[in-house]
Amino acid sequence: MPGVFNLSIDEAVKDVRAARGLGVLSVILFGLPEKKDEVATGAWAENGIVQRAARAIKSEVRDVVVMGDVCLCEYMSHGHCGIVKAEAQSLGAAAAAPPVTAEYEIVNDATLELLARTSVSLARAGVDVIAPSDMMDGRVGAIRTALDETGFENTPILAYAAKFASGFYGPFREAADSTPKFGDRRSYQMDPANLHEAMREIELDVEEGADMIMVKPAMPYLDVIAAARERFDLPLAAYQVSGEYAMIEAAARNQWIDRERVMMESLICIRRAGASMILTYYAMEAAKLLA
Ligand code: PBG
Ligand code: ZN
Repeated sequence: MPGVFNLSIDEAVKDVRAARGLGVLSVILFGLPEKKDEVATGAWAENGIVQRAARAIKSEVRDVVVMGDVCLCEYMSHGHCGIVKAEAQSLGAAAAAPPVTAEYEIVNDATLELLARTSVSLARAGVDVIAPSDMMDGRVGAIRTALDETGFENTPILAYAAKFASGFYGPFREAADSTPKFGDRRSYQMDPANLHEAMREIELDVEEGADMIMVKPAMPYLDVIAAARERFDLPLAAYQVSGEYAMIEAAARNQWIDRERVMMESLICIRRAGASMILTYYAMEAAKLLA
């Protein structure tokens, strides 16, 4: 997409320095590993791409808050956010086969262990905020316990608490090469039609120890943001995802909308709905305009 790139570590350091200079206080890191496998080794490896990037950024840029997205899909050969049960692995190998939804299972509890391991390795690399986006059940609790046991009691968790099974993630998945090779994410991400389920999911994350909660995507889910603001007293984040950015960019390129105006309006409306933090691909540009 225009203006969005996969970065090497040295380029990431430069970008973070530039962002910090513009007044952006915090960045979130996503990784694209050299190799993908069926236990997401790249996610929790001591020398994984995000671990290395975090070390570089923390040592070279002063006072930037580094968040780490915790999920396994970018590191899994099959592209799912969790461990896939054995029979299904062969489906992954036969990637050309048509999607099959009935014959595999995401193994929730075994996945928790890898998410916890990933979180601890990110904290060790200097990541300040752990942000699980996998949507497995019980992950906030599992990550909290693991962080506490390894001396990271003070590392906060920003839970992607209400993350919907959304078509708006399309550009991200293409960039991260993380589209599931079979099935979809509907068994762990949430139903776009269901507000009550979203509230229940947030509540579970809060009970398990989330320090901050997030709604994602943002603009099509402003009512969810507003409802979450009403019900929960934690800092509330909203994630303006890749597809939201893509729509604005595409329309602007066709001269159908005024790019800057719509960009700022979209962010203001997410704020109005109740978000106290916004994750957005427009962070640097918006910071410039707000300066
Ligand atoms: C990983 C993850 C995704 C995004 C953030 N973390 C993709 C997905 O769930 O499919 C999407 C971000 C974006 O679209 O900007 N689970
Ligand atoms: Zn994922």
